[in-house]
Amino acid sequence: MFPAASLLTTLLLALSIAASPVEVRNSPVTLPIARRLNTSGGTINLVQHDQSRAAALKNFKGDSTLSRRTGSITVTNDGVSYIAAVGVGSPATTYHLIVDTGSSNTWVGAGTAYVKTSTSVDTGEPVTVDYGSGSFSGTEYTDTVTLGSGLTITAQSIGVASTSTGFTGVDGIVGIGPLDLTEGTLTDEPNTTIPTVTDNLYSQGVISEIVVGISFEPTTTDSDANGELTFGGTDATKYTGTLAYTPLTTTYPASYYWGINESITYGSKTILAETAGIVDTGTTLILLASNAYDAYVSATGATLDRTTGLLRITSTQYSALQNLNFNVGSNTYALTPNGQIWPRSLNTYIGGTATSIYLVVSDLGTPSGEGLDFINGYTFLERFYSVFDTTNSQVGFATTAYTDATTN
Ligand SMILES: *[C@@H]1O[C@H](CO)[C@@H](O)[C@H](O)[C@H]1NC(C)=O
Ligand SMILES: *[C@@H]1O[C@H](CO)[C@@H](O)[C@H](O)[C@H]1NC(C)=O
Ligand SMILES: *[C@@H]1O[C@H](CO)[C@@H](O)[C@H](O)[C@H]1NC(C)=O
Repeated sequence: MFPAASLLTTLLLALSIAASPVEVRNSPVTLPIARRLNTSGGTINLVQHDQSRAAALKNFKGDSTLSRRTGSITVTNDGVSYIAAVGVGSPATTYHLIVDTGSSNTWVGAGTAYVKTSTSVDTGEPVTVDYGSGSFSGTEYTDTVTLGSGLTITAQSIGVASTSTGFTGVDGIVGIGPLDLTEGTLTDEPNTTIPTVTDNLYSQGVISEIVVGISFEPTTTDSDANGELTFGGTDATKYTGTLAYTPLTTTYPASYYWGINESITYGSKTILAETAGIVDTGTTLILLASNAYDAYVSATGATLDRTTGLLRITSTQYSALQNLNFNVGSNTYALTPNGQIWPRSLNTYIGGTATSIYLVVSDLGTPSGEGLDFINGYTFLERFYSVFDTTNSQVGFATTAYTDATTN
């Protein structure tokens, strides 16, 4: 016990000096995640979903009252999700959970009903979370949670839904956002936070830092197991070049999430001066404050397509498209023209025509200067490896083998 504890302490000291997460290779703490496009209900309205979510995120008041979670937000279809298979109970039942960096409660029961086993403990605490694009209410349990092949967390606090909206086709969420986002979700204990799976992996000694590395890859099919979560560190096989970190922003309300400061240029033209926003796996598109979006529209010559809600460009405009640069600290992450378009093979899933070219940059719906002026969603994260580092209060990015892919 003692040697292990002192080893951990030594490791932690070393890490806090380096302030750079451990590299995890062939680790049991990696979890494959599959991208799934929900085609069950016909056309997916990506823009409506993402804007509803953005409005809910911006609405967060962080004042430990439940009212902050009940904005007048439309529930829309969650079209694109990254799903992890997570076991709960002993023996475990497998649930398919959306991986969400923008929320922090883990819960099951939207689809597959919760199966109680000898490890299930009913805390009797009512729990409720509103996501903008959906919600759930139920009771908090503690139970054994299994991630990947055999990595177990004991007494993980999880929500068991009695009602939920917007989650047909999945069983719930594994929330890997900041701990504070769980505050206020236990109705009777508004000041209590609920340790996330990452927090518990750390406190139970499985990982030595509260860090999650995420790899997504672009895909042109409606379902593809091409993502990976690494708990406790990063996976060097999933990125190229060096990981660079930026401190979490102090600007509210981005500071409640994985918030960072960045500026955005289209070619050499600044369309968004340095400001705060968030990195979010629960958002499909790249959302820009309305003034930055308008500048992007005029720079690209794109027109709004009413059917999909996305911007559309001609093939001539596509040929002339310049990089969209995300400037973070002294680093620039260039989203290539191909990275700025929706995969053409998936056009019809979003109600588009097969031969059109749609852009993945969309309107946040509010002007800049409100403390959450951009969302770097999946379409950004599919081109750059990302690291969500609670221990060192930072977010990291690196280029990948797919940064310059032309698969779209
Ligand atoms: C999939 O689409 C159907 C129909 O639009 C919707 O009811 C359901 O909630 C969606 N599933 C997910 C996971 O969003
Ligand atoms: C929660 O915290 C607030 C502010 O610190 C305090 O006023 C309130 O009494 C607390 N509520 C409970 C139920 O502990
Ligand atoms: C981010 O930008 C805000 C507003 O300009 C500034 O106050 C803050 O120091 C910047 N850096 C961080 C890490 O928040």
